[in-house]
Amino acid sequence: MTRCREHLRRYVALAGLCTFAIFGEGATGQSAPQPSSGECIPGGDCEPMPASARAYAAMCELELGVAPTVDCGAGVLIPITVDGVEVFEDPGLHECDKASLQVGDCMPGSSLQRYQGRNADGTPKPDTVWISFCRHDGRDTAEYDVPDSVQLIGYNYETGATCFFESGDNSPWTHVDETNRLLGVLPGPDEPGFDQAYVVPGVQCVRCHQADPFNHNPWIKSARLPEDPRQPVIPVIPGPNPPYYVVGGPEWDMRTIHIDGNGCLGCHRIGMETVAEYTGDHWDPNEHMPPHDPGSLAADYEELVECWTNGPENTPGCDWVIPPAGECDGGVVGDNYPYASERFNGGTGDGGRSSGGRWRRPGC
Ligand code: HEC
Ligand code: HEC
Repeated sequence: MTRCREHLRRYVALAGLCTFAIFGEGATGQSAPQPSSGECIPGGDCEPMPASARAYAAMCELELGVAPTVDCGAGVLIPITVDGVEVFEDPGLHECDKASLQVGDCMPGSSLQRYQGRNADGTPKPDTVWISFCRHDGRDTAEYDVPDSVQLIGYNYETGATCFFESGDNSPWTHVDETNRLLGVLPGPDEPGFDQAYVVPGVQCVRCHQADPFNHNPWIKSARLPEDPRQPVIPVIPGPNPPYYVVGGPEWDMRTIHIDGNGCLGCHRIGMETVAEYTGDHWDPNEHMPPHDPGSLAADYEELVECWTNGPENTPGCDWVIPPAGECDGGVVGDNYPYASERFNGGTGDGGRSSGGRWRRPGC
């Protein structure tokens, strides 16, 4: 693991100026140096994600400390209500007051937990936060039973380093109780079972966890921190342009669209893929954003939709940007950003649930 750190130092020393403007022709039309010379890779020249979740947890430890050992029963329940009354049976998709914005799931019994970062020697790691999500899934159809899941996200506020752990086969450790709540204690990262309970992401989680590591919406926000109910369990990352990169995922597509002066971007980046996921489940940005005066930035939102629909390549004043990360500044990237996803951000892939698949990248 220290290997990564050494690599980073050596890399930064060699590369000199850390800039992302190396992916060729920028949207401004200025030519830029060749990709081989100065590409700033956040986290250094680390290995790609290993195949096993335990090995990945070890790789993440350098930036994020030790991944938490999850006890679903110790988390905060996400309450499900119908007409303001809490229910403990699944009322059906979209049939509750605040549904999950993944398919409108209203299944009760999911929970969230927030953990302060912790080093292997037990000392606190205050720059880091972890979230666990025990999801009692209600998205089943006649053809397909979506299993209950336990997922993890770790985030380093200073560097932007992020690790995602997808749910594996957690069934040996989990069960659902009589109130429909998903319970169970999962293996920790030092136990062999960690490799069964969790897996390394097989898809780019940033497709929807796009603006920053954490998704916020009325369902997920209704779980509040017991010690401070003014705060949701899921942290709200401060600032309009926080650092963000994925450990072992230098090839993940980190782009979002940017328009200088757009009011919606005054508080946070916006993942238009996430917006597509939300609007597909009846979340209207103008009913929720900006939080203090919903609807007041409708024109700014419209401007983003225009750019998203036509592509930044065809929209003067609108650019693809990537977040700052570690030693790297981020900023505008040009048309030949090498990590443009085939599956999202305007790619030609499965775009099924995404409104963003309508334009093709130049050269495709
Ligand atoms: C298709 C979109 C999509 C993808 C891809 C996706 N997520 Fe999510 N995720 C969501 C949404 C939306 C929420 C908010 C809860 C909800 O409405 O269901 C969420 C919430 C979460 C949460 C709770 C914390 C939070 O950010 O709110 C975790 C943990 C999580 N996802 C893990 C993952 C991991 C790990 C991956 C990649 C393997 C992943 N997700 C990929 C859409 C997605
Ligand atoms: C004054 C600050 C502010 C402005 C301006 C603002 N937002 Fe937000 N937005 C927030 C905060 C805070 C959250 C997260 C917590 C929450 O949902 O309340 C958020 C969350 C979101 C999310 C949830 C997705 C995610 O990644 O967590 C979307 C989508 C979003 N905003 C879109 C918009 C749009 C579109 C506009 C312009 C119409 C806008 N916002 C303007 C503060 C703002």
